Amino acid sequence: MSNTANLELEGKTYSLPVVSGSENEKAIAIGSLRDTTGYITLDDGYGNTGSCSSKITFIDGEKGILRYRGIPIEELSEKSSFIETAYLLIYGELPDHAQLRAFSDLLTQNANLHEDMKHHFEGFPPNAHPMAILSAMINASSCFYPGLMGRANKERFDIHAARLLSQVRTIAAFSYRKSRGLPTMYPKPVYKYTANFLHMMFSEPYQDYQLKPEVVKALDLIFLLHADHEQNCSTATVRMVASSQANLFACAAAGVCALWGPLHGGANQAVIEMLQDIHESGDDGSRFIQAAKDKNSGQKLMGFGHRVYKNYDPRAKIIKVACDNLLNTLHVSDPLLDIAKHLEEAALRDDYFVSRKLYPNVDFYSGIIMRALGIPVEMFTVIFAIGRMPGWIANFKEILDDPKSRIYRPRQVYQGPTLRPYVSIDQRP
Ligand code: SDX
Repeated sequence: MSNTANLELEGKTYSLPVVSGSENEKAIAIGSLRDTTGYITLDDGYGNTGSCSSKITFIDGEKGILRYRGIPIEELSEKSSFIETAYLLIYGELPDHAQLRAFSDLLTQNANLHEDMKHHFEGFPPNAHPMAILSAMINASSCFYPGLMGRANKERFDIHAARLLSQVRTIAAFSYRKSRGLPTMYPKPVYKYTANFLHMMFSEPYQDYQLKPEVVKALDLIFLLHADHEQNCSTATVRMVASSQANLFACAAAGVCALWGPLHGGANQAVIEMLQDIHESGDDGSRFIQAAKDKNSGQKLMGFGHRVYKNYDPRAKIIKVACDNLLNTLHVSDPLLDIAKHLEEAALRDDYFVSRKLYPNVDFYSGIIMRALGIPVEMFTVIFAIGRMPGWIANFKEILDDPKSRIYRPRQVYQGPTLRPYVSIDQRP
């Protein structure tokens, strides 16, 4: 196997180095391309472009493989927890008892927001989208820790990461309570990460939310399955901002904004809205599938398709099983689940989807679980953001720890007007 690629340009041959990943992915390193040939590459949507080398997450889209630091998602979802998996992603190894205890304690100690943050919540209208609040409040929270605002530094990384991972949950719960005109419920040290989030969301001053183990486990699994996914749109955004040496909270706030889009993390909200529309229309989904195939309809089968997975998203498989188990345990039947299953069966028999290798992705069934947990649909993408936070933090750390890290600054091919003079307004046609 050659470790160079030859490029023929204008009668000359250029050799470019070939890079192999630890899973034998191949890449042509083009770092010298412009200097040696004057050419750049062009790749709309970066479908063929690696922006970095990373040791965090591996995906094989053709085989439907997802591994965090080499460990299969199937094993982690069965044997690990969100916080243990967060430690694995951020620090590279599964923690021992002492490390997990220290990490968990750091999260507990940093769960509260600065008390003055409450005034910021007062400034949002009741119908403000919680993703807008989340991105704003992550940045606002950093203002109360001057050390956070400065240039990213390694010495303070652990406390900054713990504050962010812990407080993203508190901000999310506070925004939900505010939107419903409910009193704020503060984090309780007695509760672990996911249980504490449910407490802050659903407890009342006069009684704590009844934490059913299967409910806590289902939400913990949702967080774990969303924890990282190599260079997706929001993680690539976090790396873009981190490359300028901005602080961790600024990077995370940017990641929240990128995740919000309906083609990315906003899809879980869009899936439920799609299923509700189908349910209310009385259709079995057939009309919707026809519309999703029609380019002029502007509709897509939300929760289907993926830039990398050209096979079933392994997370969707796990969530689908968890969905059935949770609804059976809670004795809940959700007509939207039946519609989702019908849509999946119909789509996977339809050549339009099969020929384009469009399968259910992580967002297709996750909303059904969140509905069963009582989480309102406008909070679904916020749940995704909480889950993705360890991945964003891990990618930030990878740049922070890289002494050769450079600012991300893509090139472009200019297609605008060529040279022309300024024309005074009286002379313009
Ligand atoms: C996430 O990157 C990640 O890892 C993301 C994520 C993560 O964990 O971070 O996995 C989370 O964002 C999952 C994706 C959630 N989004 C959706 O479910 C929205 C619906 N899906 C599509 O918008 C689309 O599939 C994307 C955005 C997910 C992927 O888009 P691509 O890779 O740019 O693919 P494409 O638009 O070029 O589609 C190729 C073809 C097109 O048809 P043709 O031009 O070939 O005729 O497939 C069609 C598309 O029109 N197509 C769909 C479709 N998805 C693609 N047609 C109908 N319904 C769909 N859902």
